[in-house]
Amino acid sequence: MSTDHASSEASLDVLLTPADLRAGLETDARAGLSATPKWLPPKYFYDDRGSKLFEDITRLPEYYQTRTEHAILVASSDSIAEVADAEALLELGSGSSEKTRMLLNAMTRSGGLSAYVPVDVSAGALEDAMTGLRRDYPDLDLHGAVADFDHHLDQLPAPGRRLIALLGGTLGNYPPEQRRVFLANLAAAMRPGETFLLGIDLVKDPSRLMTAYDDAAGVTAEFNRNVITVLNRELDGDLDPGDFEHIALWDAENEWIEMRLRARRPISACLSALDLKVTFDEGEQLRTEISAKFRRERIEPELVAAGLHPERWWTDPAGDFALLLARR
Ligand code: AVJ
Repeated sequence: MSTDHASSEASLDVLLTPADLRAGLETDARAGLSATPKWLPPKYFYDDRGSKLFEDITRLPEYYQTRTEHAILVASSDSIAEVADAEALLELGSGSSEKTRMLLNAMTRSGGLSAYVPVDVSAGALEDAMTGLRRDYPDLDLHGAVADFDHHLDQLPAPGRRLIALLGGTLGNYPPEQRRVFLANLAAAMRPGETFLLGIDLVKDPSRLMTAYDDAAGVTAEFNRNVITVLNRELDGDLDPGDFEHIALWDAENEWIEMRLRARRPISACLSALDLKVTFDEGEQLRTEISAKFRRERIEPELVAAGLHPERWWTDPAGDFALLLARR
């Protein structure tokens, strides 16, 4: 019998549970706040409030990245789809799956697409995104995965030859050694012929970079301080976000932006859930994020070293941001 109208499938794999997320926060907070200098991984910015603040950042006049990547996708999705020649789109850190739609549309137009695999640490964001996608793309199989792409790359759904996308400059959050490990693990989890689409922010005038991370309206400062609110709520802490000043600086040697929180006064606080006392000297700084900026001649050899072969490079006319496609 004809299967022309066979209905599409939907599934959701949970590789990362709320308990896993929680254990990660406890380990990271204990390690990072006991270290000298202090640090925290940027992933804890993104609770509901932090995700909303990031959305606000993407609309700031100073923050060019999101709208520039969007413009590149508008101009280049069809050629990306053509070069990738994939049966499935897998998106790492899919969030609301908004910008994905351009790729989904282009890959549908070019013919071969049958499945979308959104992957995110937030089960809530994934369920919301899948509900909307199911309505708007009734013929597409949807295989979501709640997963941490530092741990589960080799367990992600592979419903056909995949284009794996990591957009938005997320790769820049990794320090170099973690970036190397991520790329190696990614390549190891890919089959020959599968492709990787990577969105990266490019090195440019440091003053433009600095204002992108220290905007006039103070939204990035609120976003940065939000990690303190997350610590208080999740780990039963009594830190005062108002005790911290937002700092963004350009590390010219490493070519990355760093965000830090600087204690305005001596601080003595407690994270009760960890039974951990946290003290800051006046002026002491906590590193909350690095955001690396790339050059083509630096990122391409890193991909090659991981076993991924760059095939195409798309950028905006000003050369602010780039998408590149590499094949396993
Ligand atoms: C989402 C990681 C790409 O590094 O620019 C925005 C996060 N931090 N403003 C970035 C962020 C401060 C953003 N990424």
